[in-house]
Amino acid sequence: MGVYHISGGNKLSGQLRVYGAKNAILPILASVILNAGESVIHNCPNISDTCISIKILEDIGCKVAYDGETMVVDSSVADVCSVSAELMREMRSSFIFLGGLLGRFHKVNISYPGGCELGARPIDLHLKALKQMGTEIREEHGFIICEAKRLIGTHINLDLPSVGATENIMLTAALAEGETKLTNAAKEPEIEDLEAFLNGMGADVRGAGTDTIVIRGVKKLHSVEHTVMPDRIAAGTFLVAAAITGGKVLLTEARPEHLYPVTSRLIEAGCKIASEDSTVYLEAPTELRPIEFLRTRPHPGFPTDMQPQIMSLLSLAQGVSIISETVFESRSKHIAELRRMGADIIVAPDGTTFIIKGVRKLHGATVESKDLRGGAALILAGLAAEGDTTVLGSKHVERGYDQIEKSLKDLGGNIRYEA
Ligand code: EPZ
Repeated sequence: MGVYHISGGNKLSGQLRVYGAKNAILPILASVILNAGESVIHNCPNISDTCISIKILEDIGCKVAYDGETMVVDSSVADVCSVSAELMREMRSSFIFLGGLLGRFHKVNISYPGGCELGARPIDLHLKALKQMGTEIREEHGFIICEAKRLIGTHINLDLPSVGATENIMLTAALAEGETKLTNAAKEPEIEDLEAFLNGMGADVRGAGTDTIVIRGVKKLHSVEHTVMPDRIAAGTFLVAAAITGGKVLLTEARPEHLYPVTSRLIEAGCKIASEDSTVYLEAPTELRPIEFLRTRPHPGFPTDMQPQIMSLLSLAQGVSIISETVFESRSKHIAELRRMGADIIVAPDGTTFIIKGVRKLHGATVESKDLRGGAALILAGLAAEGDTTVLGSKHVERGYDQIEKSLKDLGGNIRYEA
């Protein structure tokens, strides 16, 4: 497992292209199984979750070529309807392959994804929806075995707007008989990108980005070419990198409208933001202002995937900020590590409300990344801290950022990666 060595104090400034979105490419790679043809996907982020997805596709029998930017998948000869327990353990979001496999083969053998650093991560909403569409589900020795003689469209109302459940239902319904109406659907931009990809294959999906999605099943899908949307969470992370170091950054190939929930809060913290068609510019204030109350919510609320990063920023604001994490029950493993750097953060008894008292300075320390976004938050804190910081556990960060150390170095950060 690699480490990041950071010497804090440099003001970051410069320009950065926003690469393809991790949370868009994963459901898209699960969808390629549906078309039994060729899928050409541009702007594929070169991250470890992409590599694990390629392994899953190859295990299923797909032929995959990837040059670090464009991926070509031939799924015409795919004939295996299972995902190995090892790969599920390596990447719990492999559960998104359930919908692609079920839609194509009408049977799937996949292990329970299990919890992770963020909490229990249940899958009850996924399984309940698939049963409603005619899937028989049994559990054996930690495996979920799904079989469906016929997949029939129906009305599915989600108890909560789960991103993964919305995506698995879209994939399962694409080739099902009849119409599936999904209400209380997740509205994340990645869902819209998935709809565009599925319709590019000849599916009939409408309404992504709203809370009602209608999928009319078609008989067959065909080859497709698609460019993945930019990663709004990576973009938000680099905006915070500039904000926390008192610098400025211009992001290109971004989608400003995807970032409004984040940029509106960065403005509240004192940053200057200017957005145009595909660029977002941020200039940090001389003094960061606290945010009285911030609650993470499903899109278009403030994204939970930016909670650790903005917590690092608010650790240096001049005043008290309160964050309420409403999506995951234990997205707080980065707090103890930030405290090692001198942050003054209290976790309320409910375990999901955090009181951040800004300090004048953070100091360098050896800290450990426990999950993807928590690791990014520790790197951001190291860039602003006085002295040297070592962030252990790079494998978490590599899951969702394409060489984060290179991006930050290009902006003037003093950071290096040691394998
Ligand atoms: C997706 O995870 C993202 N992952 C997460 O990003 C993101 O944090 C999350 O959506 C919320 O936006 C990918 O897209 C690969 P959910 P997902 O189902 O689909 C509960 C990152 O850092 N729930 O919307 O797993 C669940 O426990 C990652 O990039 C059920 O109760 O999230 C959670 O509390 C982390 N039953 C809430 O819903 C279910 O059947 C939101 O989960 C499913 C979910």
